[in-house]
Amino acid sequence: MTGGGPPVIQSDPAIGRPTNGDARPMSHTDDTQGTRRDFIYYATAGAGAVVTGAAVWPLVNQMNPSADVRALASIQVDVSGVDEGTQLTVLWQGKPVFIRYRTPDEIEAARAVDVDSLPDPIAENANLTNATAPATDENRSLSEDGSWLVQMGVCTHLGCVPLGEQGDFGGWFCPCHGSHYDTAGRIRKGPAPRNLPIPVASFVDETTIQLG
Ligand code: FES
Repeated sequence: MTGGGPPVIQSDPAIGRPTNGDARPMSHTDDTQGTRRDFIYYATAGAGAVVTGAAVWPLVNQMNPSADVRALASIQVDVSGVDEGTQLTVLWQGKPVFIRYRTPDEIEAARAVDVDSLPDPIAENANLTNATAPATDENRSLSEDGSWLVQMGVCTHLGCVPLGEQGDFGGWFCPCHGSHYDTAGRIRKGPAPRNLPIPVASFVDETTIQLG
């Protein structure tokens, strides 16, 4: 990791829980399984927060507030160890971000979709100047060839964390109330109203992605 090492939750989170204060409580229908996974998730995220906090406190303590805010606003993530067909999940501004190195099949499937058929036809990409740009795969992927997709790992329904490589469209599935996202992170089926948002992100070199 670079840039201070954002806490990595896990490579493919098998959890579907609210992530922070923005998220609302889950449906009672979801409490039947996953207790151990939840524990692992919270324990891992918590340990990351403790370690990070302990490491940066002496420095932060000497910084003025505006510098502190700037430090939190962006992080750099080393993606050199992410293999094709896998996903890295990092915690940024208190929320999980999915960084996926997609396979050619995933890209092809995403690009074959008719945008007009999508429940949310807007790209939802903070990097685009046009806020209503269509939700083409090209408008959502980070790299021109479509290999890299970076998106918030927070379901747009009520804030659970979707599961990767699952669901009817081979992308992400939110088990809380059954929302299916495709391999471009676009909502295709279920109660979620919007595509998974794309945060401000860019490559600063061949193997480093900056968030924010
Ligand atoms: Fe309800 Fe994801 S939080 S479907």
